[in-house]
Amino acid sequence: MQVVTEIAELKKAVAAHRVQGHSVGLVPTMGYLHAGHASLLAQARKESDAVVLSVFVNPTQFGPNEDLDRYPRNKEGDLQLAEANGVDIVFLPEASEMYPRPSATRISVGGITDKLCGASRPGHFDGVALVVSKLFHLVGPDRAYFGMKDAQQVAVISRMVEDLNLPVEIVPCPIVRAEDGLALSSRNVYLSADERAQALVLSETLRRAPEWLAEAGGDAEGLKARIRARIGEMPLADIDYVEVLTYPGLAPAFGAEAAESAWIVALAVRFGKTRLIDNRLLTRQEIAEALASPLQAAKGE
Ligand code: PAF
Repeated sequence: MQVVTEIAELKKAVAAHRVQGHSVGLVPTMGYLHAGHASLLAQARKESDAVVLSVFVNPTQFGPNEDLDRYPRNKEGDLQLAEANGVDIVFLPEASEMYPRPSATRISVGGITDKLCGASRPGHFDGVALVVSKLFHLVGPDRAYFGMKDAQQVAVISRMVEDLNLPVEIVPCPIVRAEDGLALSSRNVYLSADERAQALVLSETLRRAPEWLAEAGGDAEGLKARIRARIGEMPLADIDYVEVLTYPGLAPAFGAEAAESAWIVALAVRFGKTRLIDNRLLTRQEIAEALASPLQAAKGE
């Protein structure tokens, strides 16, 4: 495994694979790697001859009052996990390497970045789009792997790739959960025992979402109200948002567009100082079942 910190070294290392005709898979991360990241690397390993892992806590995607300084870091642990997962090249740049001067160029994906996390974290997705497009240009991967825990990020990056005709396939990978259901996140390390126990309400409400949607007669507002009420029973939970939208368009879940699309149930909730996100996609079939529920039939009479 090659560990490189400079862009010139990265390009050279990737080029050495390219001359051998190798396909390249990229897993962009901010480090403090866990089993969720390992699953992205495993998928990349299966599908690509060479796997590139980037570990970079990207300052442009953090707002002024966010946790850039206290974002967890563990270089040694990350390198061990990378080695164990068959990574070929690790790119570990300093901020000064990625941004030798402030970027005058912005990448803004309109429409889908002003809601969910984009509404609570203005500018966040511009920073993500900027760094991801830089990484795509530096590595030139055939495929890039992103976890669906950040489903909005997957939608934003996919849209950017489509709009700019970037020659890379985006591979969304399933959310990895702890045995008790909590979605894995580098930020989980900040949770106290009580906060962690109460945070299980997120996966619980998502698990029950299809059933609650059916009980609400297929009405997204009814489902949201039910989820908010259940999360509100947890004294340590402070809701940022509970949303039900179409996916990947992130439009309101009613009307003609909603009838054709999958939906996302997306949550962001603070437990103490730690903001957690989680989500679940509802397939057309689950939505259709909810819409065909007896309550919905009664409403139509
Ligand atoms: O998902 C993340 O860890 C980051 O947003 C990403 C995609 C690595 C960009 O900094």
